[in-house]
Amino acid sequence: MRSDGAVASSRALSRPSPGGTGWFPVARAADVGGTPLLVGAGGRPWVVVRLRPGGEVTALSPHCPHRLLPLTSATVVGGDLRCAGHGWTFAADGRCRGVPALGPDAVPPPRADLSAPWAVEERDGWVWVAPDRTLHHRPPRAVAGTTAEPVPALPAPSGPVLGNVAPALGRAWHPVARADALEEGGWLSVRLLGATRTLQRRGGVVTAEPPVAGVRERDGALWLAPEPPCGTDLPAEVFPGRTQWLPAVRTGTPAAVLMDAVLDPGAPGVVAEVVPVAGGCTARWADGGRQVVVHLRAPFQLRRDETLPDGTTRSLLLLLQPEDADSTLVHARVALGGRPGRVQLAAEAQRVGAELEALDGALPVTGLPLTPRDEVHLPTDRLGVAYRHALADLLVTARGTARTEEDDDVAAA
Ligand code: FES
Repeated sequence: MRSDGAVASSRALSRPSPGGTGWFPVARAADVGGTPLLVGAGGRPWVVVRLRPGGEVTALSPHCPHRLLPLTSATVVGGDLRCAGHGWTFAADGRCRGVPALGPDAVPPPRADLSAPWAVEERDGWVWVAPDRTLHHRPPRAVAGTTAEPVPALPAPSGPVLGNVAPALGRAWHPVARADALEEGGWLSVRLLGATRTLQRRGGVVTAEPPVAGVRERDGALWLAPEPPCGTDLPAEVFPGRTQWLPAVRTGTPAAVLMDAVLDPGAPGVVAEVVPVAGGCTARWADGGRQVVVHLRAPFQLRRDETLPDGTTRSLLLLLQPEDADSTLVHARVALGGRPGRVQLAAEAQRVGAELEALDGALPVTGLPLTPRDEVHLPTDRLGVAYRHALADLLVTARGTARTEEDDDVAAA
């Protein structure tokens, strides 16, 4: 039992100034379960979660060190916290226990660890967090009127973030529809970079209203360049075997974020060779008898060709259309070579559709940070880093300005 004086002192401890040290009530204990909860302690954000049903509460820094995804979208798997991005797993003390792309036997480097507060305790129905060492080894008693402090905003990336309506994207080619969606004499309304355009086909010629700098038909798609385009295209499509478009899918994830997620090899044992080319890069790797070649062009064109051990080839053409800040239309075309039948092609389309769907949902919605300096990169991330470089180069060219310090940051990372 504490004296009144002790209670008064406890009140003071529960409400230190932001950034101060002490114990902070962050959430009702009953509200903390197996889903990470974002809380604030001393003006700093944390996620709190129980890694075992009914077990102790764990508090960890709120961002995955890999690509800074918020860990509020992480899940608890086998007593660890598993990031929704690329599956890195973290123990209760923040230690990174696994990186799927490195394989099961790899030891993640220390820089892959999360930070943890000095202490976390449950008392009087509250979860208390002491971010830094404090003189009091136990939290104070909760008193009437105890409340959790407001959750601070997650820190913003230190450099530029590429969203869907960045003005520089006006100087690139963007797919806006399948070519066969616009018949002779017909019209089509499309959305691109926050604006609506009407396409018409007359005498085989496609025009846009309001006018744009460029309209073209290529790779089975219609493309617009709102302003004189810079940058480079994928090599013209030559797909082996039979091909099929997937139904276009709309997502709230920005195009650059989605493309970056697609680039993660996501399989153990991958060794990527990345060769920069004008406007993008080409990457090759082999994995368990599977040969993969990826051609990437900024901002949002990708082709992936795989040769499987049985000689079957499968290809993906992925073209992203940035419609609005919170809307991206995904155009995907798959092809199977070798001797695939109709059923296999349909199955392949389904597989790719599920792959794309699985990437979505847990990704940040603001845009892709182009300065990877704050992140942790491993050899398997080379393709993603090359993509940032290609995007940064496109933005510099589109702006028609000299490189800024931030551009150099991207190039140096
Ligand atoms: S594993 Fe967390 S962002 Fe990649």
